Amino acid sequence: MNVADFGERYRERIWESHFAEDFERDVVTGLSASNKSIPSKYLYDALGSTLFEAIVLLPEYDLPRRENALLERYVERIVGRSNGRLRLLELGSGSSQKTRTLIEAAIECHEAVEYTAIDIALEAVRAAAVQLLDRYPRVDVRAFVGDYFQVLGEIAPQPTTLALFLGSNLGNYPGERGVALLRALRGALAPSDTLLLGVDVRKDRALMERAYNDGIGVTAAFSKNVLARVNRDLGAEIDLENFAHLARFEEGTGSVESYLVADRAATYSLGGGRGTVRFAAGERIHIESSHKFTHEELQDLATASGFVERAYLPDEEAAFALVLWERGDDAAERNTPSLAHLE
Ligand code: AVI
Repeated sequence: MNVADFGERYRERIWESHFAEDFERDVVTGLSASNKSIPSKYLYDALGSTLFEAIVLLPEYDLPRRENALLERYVERIVGRSNGRLRLLELGSGSSQKTRTLIEAAIECHEAVEYTAIDIALEAVRAAAVQLLDRYPRVDVRAFVGDYFQVLGEIAPQPTTLALFLGSNLGNYPGERGVALLRALRGALAPSDTLLLGVDVRKDRALMERAYNDGIGVTAAFSKNVLARVNRDLGAEIDLENFAHLARFEEGTGSVESYLVADRAATYSLGGGRGTVRFAAGERIHIESSHKFTHEELQDLATASGFVERAYLPDEEAAFALVLWERGDDAAERNTPSLAHLE
């Protein structure tokens, strides 16, 4: 079945929030700042999502394979067993490929299963929802497209829910933003509901950097596509040839930071009467933080966002981990400490 055949069934099940104006505002603000940046959520237009699907196949980017191996090993313990309904609520679902192991185990172990996907990538979510409905007719599939914070505000708690935030997606929300996002996610959970995180673990610098500097340049294309999107969507005239992808681990933030670096000084039109943007030679645009977690940091994050750790499940090389948290009670949430030291 393709999207065109999905018709009414599709319209009833996929909710799209609109953020086109935010793109224009965020790009103009980010490129006008003294430290230039573009929010990483804008990497995922149709082409960016397709390039990311290619990234997960790269030998250098081993996060998905490590995560899948852990999911295969622990899936039954994670989904539990009941005579009732389990809602899987996935943040950053993308193509939902990695979630199939969990969906299949949930079908085996629970009377009824709902799968609700949340993602910013419209095309990826739409295609995934169509495929999942087709493949698992017993699963009640729903999808929300939009900014995580916007969408989570619209989702009501519904016991029993297992929230999923896999693929080290949390790493793209470092420091206080991660805490805010986890708190928003907690707002969609009922007491005793659980959250499964898949996180990339801090390790040897060369290994971490290799994952973002592949030999055939897919990651560089994924990064540069955000500027191509600025040209396409805003009518800007940025010369992509003038920019190179740079990704390196920074001790100060504990993250692999990705930038686009201007080779020579240049001034470009932002299109549509939005003025121009000037670059000095060597000037960088920050486009993504990919945080690498320690277990201790994760424990602090759980406390700060109102969760209690139930299991920490690293792989043999301690390179990637699954983390199972339970929603803490509201009294603990009111006394949460600050996470300023994680910034
Ligand atoms: C989606 N996210 C967790 C990826 C990461 O590792 O930060 C995005 C990515 N960027 C470059 N390669 C992969």
